Parts: sequence; structure tokens; C-alpha cells
Amino acid sequence: MKVTVVGAGAVGATCADNIARKELVEELVLLDIKEGLAEGKAQDMMQTAALLGFDTRITGSTNDYSKTAGSDVVVITSGLPRKPGMTREELIGTNAGIVKGVATNILQHSPNTILIIISNPMDTMTQLALNATGLPKNRIIGMGGTLDSARFKYQLSQHLGCSPADLNALVVGGHGDTTMIPLIRFATWNSIPVTKLLSEDKQKQIVADTMVGGATLTKLIGTSAWYAPGAAGAALVESIVRDQKKLFTCCVSLNGEYGQKDICLGVPVVIGKNGWEKILDFDLNADEKALFSKSADAVRSMNDVLKTL
Ligand code: 2OP
Repeated sequence: MKVTVVGAGAVGATCADNIARKELVEELVLLDIKEGLAEGKAQDMMQTAALLGFDTRITGSTNDYSKTAGSDVVVITSGLPRKPGMTREELIGTNAGIVKGVATNILQHSPNTILIIISNPMDTMTQLALNATGLPKNRIIGMGGTLDSARFKYQLSQHLGCSPADLNALVVGGHGDTTMIPLIRFATWNSIPVTKLLSEDKQKQIVADTMVGGATLTKLIGTSAWYAPGAAGAALVESIVRDQKKLFTCCVSLNGEYGQKDICLGVPVVIGKNGWEKILDFDLNADEKALFSKSADAVRSMNDVLKTL
């Protein structure tokens, strides 16, 4: 199996590092536009192989897409990250051109690939990748909800004093500070509803802290986060290359599910060797439905910006 990660910045390099450490594939290509960056990081990672004991071959390339030929999965992380005080949406002008160019180049060399989109604003970049490549919709996956759900579990674990790995919790909707919807009503600690264990105030706080999870880190670090975004990308790669059929929230093209059509938005999907294979379309209550439709409206107006670029 072969995977390419486009963008050798912090998110892309962390994603590649996770893929290599887990030995998910035989061949891993890191590509970046900046001269030498991908080659250097690939070599640095390869020098951990003797210490960590993995056999994945990692190579770097400065913008030579022929090196990515025949990739089964491609993770796109290219584009500017956000700075403190910036929303993900403010990146659209710059990142749209970059993501479109990357997706087009990739498809020329790997027509059968599955694309995982991490670049921001992630929902709109996923829509753009779908429109620009014309790939079957199950082969375009936006990563956002996978990351937001992990952040939701982190917040819950801090208040419950438990292992994040013992929690089940989903964040649906957009991957924006105001568009994501942490579904606390469905969250459980090994099957016990967390709503039975936390006060209403605590629940509200956890939801609010989850929604600004990325912004909080951007403020602390000075640029956007990379450990969890990179690990989330690698978790999706793992479910695809090992055909695990794991359930993640991902941004995918909806066709009537959750009352929405012709829009890419975060919903629970089964991830396997064919990309996203199935949407779990369950009944939200009236409040959750209203939030989901507000989130769709916000993402739709962001997508409309694409038409003006
Ligand atoms: C984040 O939320 C990079 O969008 C990503 O940290």
C-alpha cells in the first residue's frame, strides 16, 4: 500500500510520523512546495526507523507529483494554518487555490485514490475537492469531526476523571468554532450516559470548550495545532488501509441525510477500504436538528465564497 501526505508542515509531518510508527503502509511519500522541506523531514523520520522498529519507506519530494503515483490514499494538509484570533474561514481565499491545485495534480498520478482533506476551512475545502476532481463522493473525506470528537472526549475525560479511550462521543456539523455540534446527549462512558454523571452547567462548559478547542490551542501555541489533527488524519488512513470499518465523524457529501443535500458536512460514517462506506443517519431531536441546519447554512454561505474567487 502507498500513502502520500501533501504538506510537510507540522500537521502533515505529524500525520506521516503516525502512519510510519504504526507501519500502516509499505510506502509513504511526503510532498511539499518548499524546496527540501519534505526530503529533510522524510529523512529525519527514516532515521527514527532503527530506533522505533518500523519498515515503512518514507521519501520526500519537492512538488514532483510523479513520485506520488499509484497512491491508495492521499492526505491533503496544504495551505496556511490559522494565527491567533483568526477563524478557519478567513483562510479560504489563499487555501482554495492551493487545495484545488494539489487535488488536480494528485488525481493525474493516482486516479483511484481516496482523498482525506485536512486543510482549512475544512468543510469548504472538502466541497472544493469534490467539485474540482469529480471523484465518486465516497472517495472524498474531510477529517474535521474526527479531530473534534477526540477533543470532545478529552474535555469529557478531564471532568469525569476517566480515560479518553473509555469514552464514546461524537461532534457533528461543521468544523468551525460556531458550526460544530458536540452531541452530549449521546456521549457515554463505557455505555453509561455522561448526562447522568455531569451537571447541566458542566455539560454546557464541556460543549463550549470543545467548540473552541482549536482556537484555544492556536492562542497558546501561536499557530494551529498539529498533534491531534495529524493523529486524526492517520486514524482515518488506518481504517481505510486495514479496512477496519471504524465509525468516525467525517465531512462527506450529503444526499438527503440529516435533511441536507449537496453539501459536505460532518456526520457519522463507516470508514473502510472504499473510503466512507455508509452514513449513519439517526434521529436528532428538535434542538439538535435546528443546530445542524444552522451549521449547514453557515457552511453553505462559506461555500458560496468559492464562486467569487
Ligand atoms: C484544528 O482545529 C487544524 O483545524 C485544525 O486544530
